Amino acid sequence: MVISRRVGAVLVAASVTLSLGATPATATGRGSGHDGPGGGPGAPGAGDNYFPAAGNGGYDALHYGLDIRYEPSSRAFVGVATIEARATEGLSRFNLDLRGFEVRSVTVDGRPARYDRDGQELRVSPKRALSRGERFTVVVRYDGTTGRPTDAEGALYGWVSTPDGSFVANEPDGASTWYPVNDHPTDKAGYDFRITVPAGKTAVANGELVDQRTSRGWTTFVWRARDPMASYLSTASVGDYDLRRSTGPHGLPIIDAVDRDLGPDSADGLARTREMIAYFADLFGRYPFSSYGAIVDDDEDAGYALETQTRPIYSGPPSEGTVAHELAHQWYGNSVSPARWQDIWLNEGFASYAEWLWEEHTGGPTAQQQFDTNYARPATASFWNPPPGDPGATNLFASSVYNKGAMTLHALRTKIGDRAFFTLLRTWYSANRNDTASTADLVRLAEKVTKRQLDGFFQTWLYTPGKPTSW
Ligand code: TRP
Ligand code: ZN
Repeated sequence: MVISRRVGAVLVAASVTLSLGATPATATGRGSGHDGPGGGPGAPGAGDNYFPAAGNGGYDALHYGLDIRYEPSSRAFVGVATIEARATEGLSRFNLDLRGFEVRSVTVDGRPARYDRDGQELRVSPKRALSRGERFTVVVRYDGTTGRPTDAEGALYGWVSTPDGSFVANEPDGASTWYPVNDHPTDKAGYDFRITVPAGKTAVANGELVDQRTSRGWTTFVWRARDPMASYLSTASVGDYDLRRSTGPHGLPIIDAVDRDLGPDSADGLARTREMIAYFADLFGRYPFSSYGAIVDDDEDAGYALETQTRPIYSGPPSEGTVAHELAHQWYGNSVSPARWQDIWLNEGFASYAEWLWEEHTGGPTAQQQFDTNYARPATASFWNPPPGDPGATNLFASSVYNKGAMTLHALRTKIGDRAFFTLLRTWYSANRNDTASTADLVRLAEKVTKRQLDGFFQTWLYTPGKPTSW
């Protein structure tokens, strides 16, 4: 299955899935340790070794209310972000991540706050310092003209303006291209979106559509995502979409948004979604969230898909394998999220392996055959590098993260047996749902489930460059 993420970056082909670990980040806030009112400044980063400026320390974001007005033809964007948070230390000042835009005002608990900006950091000094444990509400008013931002690998991400609206896919640190945020997966929160667009346009976000009203030429779409969500999984995509509703297993609401300009076969890859949800729920545990669906855009120059929570976004009509991949991410990546970006193989290796499982289940090659085909590649092939457990910040989505990551899981399965392996997959999800976890946590759990020492195995597959020969 080809997951063609990133045109121009990595392009893989054929039977190979294209696609893409040692002390966990203390991303809950590598804080300054101030306790009282009159504490010090919160850290400007969450402590991620690959993205030191991503996220912030000193507080826990609980909820984002994002009120956005967007006019596609001029790309004019006006935002009001209301962030509810709890201080985890005494704070004289704290940061949010925000790139671009003009900030018009910031209030904390209704009172104007001083602020300044430094790169992606928006530094906010409330009138009165916050005490440890205190809940507070920040309101940021901002506006500007959106563009087409790119990430550390040069791929389009964040709020990507398109001819008919926007394609919004933030992974890893692009949520800050459209709202002020504690932009690290370790700080999940609930979200409410109010997106106002010219009448005739459709705005699609995560969760459920709770209101839609048109007045004086503008339509406001209100979406609610109650389940905890990492910022990189939020979306608010605007386009010429038709919304289609259906029902998944156990009455799960499914809302698909499909670009009207696409042909009648554009949703063929989605046809078995319901069946896929049932299959994965059976293997991994119950579906994690309150709804599901897809956003199918017609922006081929983006050329990729992202597992945005409850509603993956595809730049064009997806294949069934890609749909399986993004669905599997709802368990592995979205509900169980990486503790730090170095652990990205926990997302991509698992989703790629799930794609193999789905293909086998539906009469395609077996997972063993996929493994064997990949393993037949020569030791000299670039296929084996970088090691998936430490790909480097500018290689997060290298194809080895996907393929060697999936092979790692299959090799583990053959080593420990089906019973232990599927117990591990299920327990990994149930023990870490709505949370984050690291590779070290997975190794620990695998050793616990099997009562075997497995660090050498993971060292070989995840951290050693090149083709593994014995494990
Ligand atoms: N996680 C995506 C996948 O494998 C790939 C991806 C990473 C991506 N960053 C992105 C896609 C940014 C779109 C935008 O399915
Ligand atoms: Zn993926």
